[in-house]
Amino acid sequence: MAKLVPVQVFDLIIFGGTGDLSMRKLLPALYHRDRDGQVIEDSRVIAVGRGDMSQQEYLNMVEAALRANLADGDFDEETWRSFAKRLTYVKADALNHNEWQHLGEVLGGFEDRVRVAYLATAPSLFGPIAAGFRANNLITETSRIVLEKPVGTDYASAWKINEEVGACFSESQIFRIDHYLGKETVQNLLALRFGNSLFEPLWRRGSVDHVQITVAEELGVGGRVEFYDRIGALRDMVQNHLLQLVCLTAIEAPSSLDQEAVRDEKIKVLRALRPIEGDSVRTRTVRGQYAAGAIHGTPVPGYLDELGGKASRTETFVAIKAEIENWRWSNVPFYLRTGKRLKTKHSEIVIQFQDVPHSIFPEQEYNVKPNRLTIKLQPDEGVKLFVMAKEPGPGGFDLRPVSLDLSFEETFGIRYPDAYERLLMEVLRGNPALFMRRDEVEAAWEWVDTIIAGWEATQTKVESYVAGSWGPTASSFLLDRDGREWLPEN
Ligand code: BG6
Repeated sequence: MAKLVPVQVFDLIIFGGTGDLSMRKLLPALYHRDRDGQVIEDSRVIAVGRGDMSQQEYLNMVEAALRANLADGDFDEETWRSFAKRLTYVKADALNHNEWQHLGEVLGGFEDRVRVAYLATAPSLFGPIAAGFRANNLITETSRIVLEKPVGTDYASAWKINEEVGACFSESQIFRIDHYLGKETVQNLLALRFGNSLFEPLWRRGSVDHVQITVAEELGVGGRVEFYDRIGALRDMVQNHLLQLVCLTAIEAPSSLDQEAVRDEKIKVLRALRPIEGDSVRTRTVRGQYAAGAIHGTPVPGYLDELGGKASRTETFVAIKAEIENWRWSNVPFYLRTGKRLKTKHSEIVIQFQDVPHSIFPEQEYNVKPNRLTIKLQPDEGVKLFVMAKEPGPGGFDLRPVSLDLSFEETFGIRYPDAYERLLMEVLRGNPALFMRRDEVEAAWEWVDTIIAGWEATQTKVESYVAGSWGPTASSFLLDRDGREWLPEN
């Protein structure tokens, strides 16, 4: 098991401390780290919210959230009692700087500890909160600021946020979260690629036919529908999570795991993405929106019903044929798809290798399939390599694909920490390697903005798909045109 290194004593101030992300992810993550002994001494979690709430009411809220969101058996009274002592609720409207006084008082006298402001709020508040820290003299030498995604809704708004926050905090103090970078398997992608020499010679055009990246969700937009309707799947998932997966799949070997080395390589991939402009959005992208259907037999409403019957062209599904214009990946398409209310929750990266150059097994009789490496992100994390093998028995060669399986959970036999556990600890340690640098965020927006402009200019149709399916049929045509198909989940 990985070594557990306690982090320095800290004050973590969460803006949006009563919000959904805090309750579902941040506080459970901190609880786990506390339980494992990684949070030391009198480190504090200071939750800032606008609601009039007593300290006890806040504690009741967190306890209920932990009981609901921790896995069975993970909540225990003793850990909760010591964890609760760390929590302080502060009522403040971040936009009203007169209300910052109380926060200043709570933080006063603790300037020597690591101070982290976690902004789990709307991106429009990032600039004003950073300015509030500066105006109230709350930025210490060891202060850091964490920006939840999305950083903006397009290049221009991201640039403005980066400028505003950058006017108060230096780039090394700014941590832009993409929680996919904290997922165990995403990190394992680096281990797989750069901890083994086996794959490197094959990880390129000439050996790889194409790459498929799928992030499929069963959940619909639920309570976030108003917010989501202004965003859509391209901005919500592709601009960040899927492009980060593309980057880690496609990067050149960094010289080290140094905080800048990996990010320097990722930005090269983002800059090499071929723009999808104008009319080419019709042939290289697909937009979809779910209609009523059923997930595992349970009926679910359509997106427009959830929106209260309003009309909307917001996509809940997107598929893209992305291309990376460099020597390694020339003519190797990266097919990306993500959507809500799909058949099953399932995320994976598939490296599809090329066909054998010449089959010695007569085609009609034997079905020789190209090798495939599948890196499974969710729900079961692991790696599978598909190879052709002979079916045992007499009577010639009966070939079929078999998989060499590595399930991380079975192999290492530990609970998989949630991505936020790792990312919070990395912020507290001051290690930005797993966070997005300003240039990455802006380059990703530039690529995505071009697609959005193309959709608007061409009024690209938003195809309907039945909830519980694999998305619109147009998504199959995207690959069919290239003589390929989405590979079945495995
Ligand atoms: C978030 C998106 O960033 O990622 C959500 O805003 C999405 O819409 C979520 O549901 C998916 O995360 P995970 O870890 O469940 O794959």
